[in-house]
Amino acid sequence: MIGQRRFYITSPIYYVNDSPHIGHAYTTLACDVLARFKRLDGFDVKFLTGTDEHGQKVEKSARAAGMDPQSFTDKVSQNFRDLARAMNYSNDDFIRTTEPRHIAACQALWRELKARGQIYLGDYQGWYSVRDEAFWGEGELISGSDGKRTAPTGAPVEWVKEPSYFFPLSKWQDRLLKFYDENPDFIGPASRRNEVISFVRGGLEDLSVSRTSFKWGVPVPDDPAHIMYVWLDALTNYITAVGYPDTSGEYARYWPADLHMVGKDILRFHAVYWPAFLMAAGLAPPKRVFAHGWWTNEGNKISKSLGNVIEPNALIARYGLDPVRYFLLREVPFGNDGDFSHKAMVGRLNGELANELGNLAQRTLAQVNKNCDAKVPARGEFSDEDRMLVEGAGSLLARLRETFDRQQFHEGLEAVWVVVRSANAYIDRQAPWGLRKTDPARMATVLYALAETVRHVAILLQPIMPDSMARLLDQLAVAPALRDFAALFKPLEAGTPLPAPQGIFPRFVEAREGAA
Ligand code: MSP
Repeated sequence: MIGQRRFYITSPIYYVNDSPHIGHAYTTLACDVLARFKRLDGFDVKFLTGTDEHGQKVEKSARAAGMDPQSFTDKVSQNFRDLARAMNYSNDDFIRTTEPRHIAACQALWRELKARGQIYLGDYQGWYSVRDEAFWGEGELISGSDGKRTAPTGAPVEWVKEPSYFFPLSKWQDRLLKFYDENPDFIGPASRRNEVISFVRGGLEDLSVSRTSFKWGVPVPDDPAHIMYVWLDALTNYITAVGYPDTSGEYARYWPADLHMVGKDILRFHAVYWPAFLMAAGLAPPKRVFAHGWWTNEGNKISKSLGNVIEPNALIARYGLDPVRYFLLREVPFGNDGDFSHKAMVGRLNGELANELGNLAQRTLAQVNKNCDAKVPARGEFSDEDRMLVEGAGSLLARLRETFDRQQFHEGLEAVWVVVRSANAYIDRQAPWGLRKTDPARMATVLYALAETVRHVAILLQPIMPDSMARLLDQLAVAPALRDFAALFKPLEAGTPLPAPQGIFPRFVEAREGAA
């Protein structure tokens, strides 16, 4: 469509040494919700995710598994594809950094930087953390309880001394500060933006962008003794996937990306290094980077050594996929850290999903089924109260657009639940079951207002809970072509036959102690 608005959104690409856990699922889930939301809102969307397969960390894990790195990454990359299917992500592409298209893009970007005098040969001496795949300055290290110095992330560091190519990051300090200043929305949330700006103001050192002490990476063009630093390689994935170095086709259509979604731990790479690399290569920086917080498990830091890693598949099996998707984006203001607990999960599932939304749908549809001949009722004139309910539902799209454009999912969802709760209060007040004998026309109007409200809510919640909302829309006999946001303004038609209603969110019932 000519003039169609476009939206390019990316998740980080995941290190394949780890098996997928709640943290990985969370970052991509937030992308999926935005991608689905924008598609329903008429945008031409590209949603990218994938795996980060080079570097020392992955090489080490391959060795530990007794495999060569290529076969190892072929095998474990599949776990992340499986996660995408299990979580019902709607990604349009899945990139692996070991693919030829990506190696070509990295080498092309390198050549471009070199040709523009943005890469020079030197010697690197300093601290490196394999776990973070990051260089840390002397002043950034912290002393651990055992007196050993570690990276600020707690990861062990080692002293590295090797010939290396450098990127003159120090020269980009002023350009970066100017860029942040001119693009106040580049980094979200605002607290993170301030952190990045003060880091850059503190002064930047040139960045080592190649390694010679191991082999698992993209060879540096014309100097194969070096491989590219894994973060320069990894960040490039965002332009590989739109066809770089060809800047006509998809690149012209989608670049610069609208949003790179990342966790707070990898913001520096995306908000400092990446725009500097791009500007240095004469390419446009992305429009926005949003850093979300980290999950803990029942109050504890999640780590393999503590044995408390939360596996997405286990959550899905226990609570159901859509309740998990809902919980992750509802429980915590997006950007803050959050705690996963069974109690909080069940509270939201039984409270907001089963008792509030599920009951609203079930009560409405059951009465239509029983008292309106299982057809959408014909409504009479709306009273002020009817109008307020339906107009409240009608105002949600604008509210969701506004909150989701700031990645504040919890605010958008809260607005939807204000409408759900007022609809439940309305049904109690209007008591349509009592009108069946006394005023059937009024009963039809009340049930119509409720069904319209449920339709709005179901259409708008599709990005968060695609399967359950599809089932609810089936029960309202809303045709598949009438489920996008433009169709919000096409009300239900009286007389449309409706199938028998079925509950969408079964309550979670605790297994009794000792029960089989
Ligand atoms: N490979 C790099 C990213 C390169 S992007 C060009 C990487 N990979 S990762 O697999 O270690 O982490 C990916 C994402 O998972 C990060 O956004 C990180 O914040 C997120 N999480 C890992 N553990 C997490 C939690 N406990 N909670 C929330 N998110 C967490 O970094």
